[in-house]
Parts: sequence; structure tokens; C-alpha cells
Amino acid sequence: MENIYFGSGFSMTNISYEEILSIQRKVKIEDIVQDYVALTKKGKNYFGICPFHDDHNPSMSVSSEKQMYKCFVCGAAGNVFNFVSEYEKVSYFEAVKVVANKIGINISIDNEDKTKIIKSPLYDIYDISSKVYQNNLNTSYGKKAKLYLKNRKINDDIIQKFNIGLSTTNNELINILKNKGFTEEDILESGVCIKNNNYIHDLYKNRIMFPLTDLQGNIVAFSGRIYEDVDESKYINTMETKIFKKGNLLYNYHNAKKEARKNQSIIIVEGFMDVIRLSTIGINNVVATMGTAVTKEQISLIKRLAKEIIVMFDGDDAGDKATKSFIELFGNYECLKIVRLENNYDPDEYILKNGKDKMIYHLKHAVSVFDYKMESYKKNIDFNNSQDVSKYINLSLKEIENIDDDIVRNLEISKLSKLTNVSIEVLNSKINVKKKDIIVNRYKIKSGKGDKYNKASKYIIYNMIKNNNYILYYFDNLSFLPNEIDRKLANEIVLFYKKFNSFNLNDFIVYLGDKKELINLLIEIDSMDLLICENENDLQSYFKTIKEYLSSTKINNLQNELKSTSNEIKRKEIAKKIVEIKLKESM
Ligand code: CTP
Ligand code: MN
Repeated sequence: MENIYFGSGFSMTNISYEEILSIQRKVKIEDIVQDYVALTKKGKNYFGICPFHDDHNPSMSVSSEKQMYKCFVCGAAGNVFNFVSEYEKVSYFEAVKVVANKIGINISIDNEDKTKIIKSPLYDIYDISSKVYQNNLNTSYGKKAKLYLKNRKINDDIIQKFNIGLSTTNNELINILKNKGFTEEDILESGVCIKNNNYIHDLYKNRIMFPLTDLQGNIVAFSGRIYEDVDESKYINTMETKIFKKGNLLYNYHNAKKEARKNQSIIIVEGFMDVIRLSTIGINNVVATMGTAVTKEQISLIKRLAKEIIVMFDGDDAGDKATKSFIELFGNYECLKIVRLENNYDPDEYILKNGKDKMIYHLKHAVSVFDYKMESYKKNIDFNNSQDVSKYINLSLKEIENIDDDIVRNLEISKLSKLTNVSIEVLNSKINVKKKDIIVNRYKIKSGKGDKYNKASKYIIYNMIKNNNYILYYFDNLSFLPNEIDRKLANEIVLFYKKFNSFNLNDFIVYLGDKKELINLLIEIDSMDLLICENENDLQSYFKTIKEYLSSTKINNLQNELKSTSNEIKRKEIAKKIVEIKLKESM
């Protein structure tokens, strides 16, 4: 585990980077900031009056997507811990404690100055409940449930792998938990038991129990499914608590994480039966949204996991709708692939009916968002009806307009022309190609410090943040920036990348801890509206500017030396060096 040491006042105290990251992933910055400052939502972001300088206008923005705040007037910026630390005027470590507390985690320091993380008793309650449930499945009471699972082709290995259990009707859990010494208050807070007319009893009665885990794999809730023909809702989920927000997690995230990173691909399904079934055919890089509409938090979790993201929702209309909302919320289409299953099947049913090979075929042939949309526009279109065809063409052209590659775009137009019998010329006359904004490069680097070296420096860092392939390219080909703080930041980015083999802004800010100066600079550069280099050659031109700076300072120094030297031999040597540098520069 990677330990970071915070601030001089806490030099003895350490808490691991992973632990801080896991705390951060459980909170939303906008919720925490709202405890201190009133925020209003405008578009994607929240705005409020900045508490760090005297102001009456809402100059501070809080981005839910980036989990960062930034004041456009005073430049204060950072993540949730930086905000609390700044606001409460406490160390970074204290701020981590404050935030952790809000989600049921206590961090304390023992006599030996060791950090102790004390989790909320809810975690133990869920662990014990899960063991009780799992045990029930192997008793005589569990025979019927076991048979149900067997009929659904869920064998003992899978039951164990996913810790599937069974709740009983005899109200045993409440007594077990009480005997273990948990307070009534904690038991009720956990939601596994509820109070009715002063009488506490188990919430789940005679249901197959699926534990839901947080991003670290701790059980934080349950979902219980009926298995007999009863007139009750199919699933009951534990209510939300400090440590369980359904929209903040994905079923099986913890297990899928490693697999997904290994093969750089993650599959998203709707239900946990789909996750479980896919695992029986050896596919483990799968998470489930658990039915509800996908949230921003879930999208950002998924984006972190892999380069290729495959959405395989249920084959029915609801699944199609959910796929469309997922695409909308996801934004960047390039890494998205879509699988649509036939006959309204969900992945679980599909595998049971058609087998492993057909499922693998489907996954291998997942289509691009473009192809998915084009295919879905075809639905309900009568190609003999010109009104319909016209509608179809308009929808299709809207998609085709967005294709950057001229050749691909023209191929799509000719396909459309063949399909609709409308000439390529007519189609082309209707299209309004959106050229990317290549010429405009607006930079908001404040005047004064906006000399060309400073600009090049900011461009380089900006590009390292936006395209992580440039990080090692910078390391291998330049590894220097004239401005000391820029250089420090670039170095930290390289170190982080080398350590974790990946880079994302959010994790990097947590990694930087209380290095406020670097964090402010990082967020300022990230929010600039600069040109993203298309390739390494583009970036080279900025490297050249920096190298030019290096040689011109060298020449300056040499020229000064020349002035103060009277020794002819030395003067010749210096002059030779100057010529060499100039020659190199002109190459
Ligand atoms: N779900 C829920 N509450 C419900 C229904 C569904 O929380 N009343 C969630 C569950 O997480 C479920 C997912 O939505 O896994 C998808 O629902 P559905 O497709 O109905 O369930 P399946 O996963 O197909 O489960 P099964 O095959 O056992 O019916
Ligand atoms: Mn199902």
C-alpha cells in the first residue's frame, strides 16, 4: 500500500492513498460543500458564493462530474478534502477525518501514533447477516430455495462465489444480532430489521439473498428475491444508509475491476442474475446497474475501469430505452460498444437458451454507437412510405454529420443512398458537416505571465492531462519545463503515471494530498480551453519552444561569460560553444 505523509504537524500520521481514495469515492463533493455553502445547480455544475474571498457573487463552481471545486475569482481549487481543510482551517488529515465521519467511518490515532480506521458497526451487521443467510441455504429449511436455484442452473460454486443466501420466516436475525451486542439503534439503521408498533422484526422473510458490496467489496446492503409463487414484489433492496447509495455503486464492481483492467474491457448489464450467469461461462469483467436508470456516478466508475465499454442491457424495449439514456449520459462515444439481444432476452436468459458460444459471438460483434443508432432508426420505418423515408434520412444525416473522417462519412452517405434510393448529391446537399474547431485556440493564460515559454509549458501539461499517452512522451523527450512549479507538476504527473500505469485527474488530486499550490495550478490548467494535440508531432512543436528557451538561456550565459573573459583561448572556446548551440537549434 502506498502511504502518503501529510503536513508537518502530522508527520507521524499516515493514512494510505488507497484509503483516502476509497473515502472520496463514497461521497459527493456537492453534498459536502452544501453543508457549508448554498449551491444552485446550473447545467452540469453547481455554483455558490466562494467562502475563500470576500464576494457576493457566485464565483465558485462545483463540478459533480470532476468532483472538484474552483473559484474563478480567487483561484481556490481542489477536491472535497481540500475544500474542508481550507474551510475549517484544519490540516488535510483532519479534513479526511471530517469527511470520513460523514459516511460512518471513524479515523483515530492510537497511543503509538498509528492511524486506526474504525468502520461503522453497519459493516459488521451486514457481514454477520450475510453469514446467517448463507448458512440457511444449507439447512433443511433451505431445500426449496436450493431447488429453485438448481432449476435456474445456479450450482454450489456460484452460490459461494456470490455469497448467495436465504432469509427465513422465523425472525432469527434480530435475535442473533442482539446477542452479538449490537444496539437496537444500529440494527434499525442497517435496515435488515424494522420496527412495527414497537416490535422489531427481520425485514427479509423467505427470500433468496444477494449481498451488495461497495467499491472495496464490503457488504453494504442486500437484495432479496422471492422464489415461490407469492404476490409480493420480486426484489426488495435494503434502504439507503450512510454507507449505501444505490446509484453510487455497481453490482460486482469489486470483482470485475481486476478483470476489466486486465483485458481493458468492461461489460455493463442490468441485473445481477446477468452478472452471475456470465460468470458461469467464464466472463467476469461484468457489472450491473441493478435496474434503475444509470447515474453519473456509475458512469464515472465505469470510465475508470477500461478503454472498451460494452453495454448489454435486456433485449426488450425498456432495455433499448436504457441503452439510449446510457449513451446520452456517457458522452464520449468512441470507447462505447453496444450489444442488443434478440427476442427480448436478458443476458441470463440468452445464455440459458442459446449457450456460451452464441453469447461470446455477440460480445465480439458489439457495434459502435453510430451503427446502433442507425440500426434503431430503421425500426418502425416503412421504406415504401416517403414520409417515413424522409424522417429516416434526416435522423441518419444528423449522425453522419458527426463523422470526422471524410472517407467514412462518404461511405455512410453512399450506403444511405442505396438504402433509400435518394441520390448521393441530394444527401450531400442536406448535410452540414461540423468541422472541428482546429484553428481557434483560445487560451486564458493571464496576461503578464503569458510569454511564449509559459504558454508552451501550459500546453504541454494540458496535453499530458488530456491524453495520457503524452505523459511518457514528455518524460522521454523533454522532462524539463522552465517554470519551477510547472516542472514540479509535470514531474508528479510522470511519477503518478509510472506508479499506477494510468492517470485520472481525480485520483491524482487525492494523491497530491495537501500540495495546494500544485492542485490549484493543475485545476487551472485543466479548465483552460487549449488545443488538444492530434499527435506527437504537434506536441513536438511545443517541446521545440521549450528547448529554444534552454538554448537561449545557455547562450545568454555564455555571452556574459564572453564579456568578462580576456583570455583569447577561452574566448574561442566559448564562441565555439555558442555556434554549436545555434547550429543545433537550427537543425
Ligand atoms: N430490481 C430491483 N427491484 C425490483 C426489480 C428489479 O432492484 N423490484 C433490480 C435488480 O437489481 C435486478 C435488476 O433490477 O437485478 C433487473 O431487474 P430484472 O431484469 O427484473 O431482474 P433480473 O436480473 O432479470 O432477475 P430475475 O432473472 O431473477 O428475474
Ligand atoms: Mn432475468
